[in-house]
Amino acid sequence: MKPDITCRADIEKIVREFYDKVRKDELIGFFFSDVVPVNWETHLPVMCSFWENVLFYTGEYEGNPIDAHRKIHLQYPTNAAHFQRWLQLFYEIIDASFSGPNADKMKGHSLAIANVMQQKITG
Ligand code: HEM
Repeated sequence: MKPDITCRADIEKIVREFYDKVRKDELIGFFFSDVVPVNWETHLPVMCSFWENVLFYTGEYEGNPIDAHRKIHLQYPTNAAHFQRWLQLFYEIIDASFSGPNADKMKGHSLAIANVMQQKITG
């Protein structure tokens, strides 16, 4: 039985491993280098705060993911296949190390946000 996600260190592990995989991915990796030259030193802590807020209600994330992705979409259109791959990689990374209510919540929330994002971005 794998442990559940219980603290920021667990989220940091997921976020680090997820973006290691994303960056090398042939379908969506280029978004994080060519479309948006991501500063990983700032992006990774932002993502950890985002997920920490989702799971543990810390109130520390103040960004607007929909707006951020609308801008990305204007630079290079994101489509259903991109979102599917993002979710597939995210689920794989979580399932490799964690299971339980928080792991399920993280996956469920990512799917819900991906659906809302796609609706709002592509109309
Ligand atoms: C096609 C799929 C996706 C692509 C290509 C993508 C790409 C990106 C990129 C390039 C950034 C900007 C990083 C920067 O500003 O340096 C970003 C930020 C972010 N992404 Fe995604 N993303 C995708 C899907 C998702 C999904 C499904 C979620 C749901 C949890 C998500 C959550 C976020 C958040 C919270 C940020 C930070 C926004 C901020 O600056 O406050 N992304 N994404």
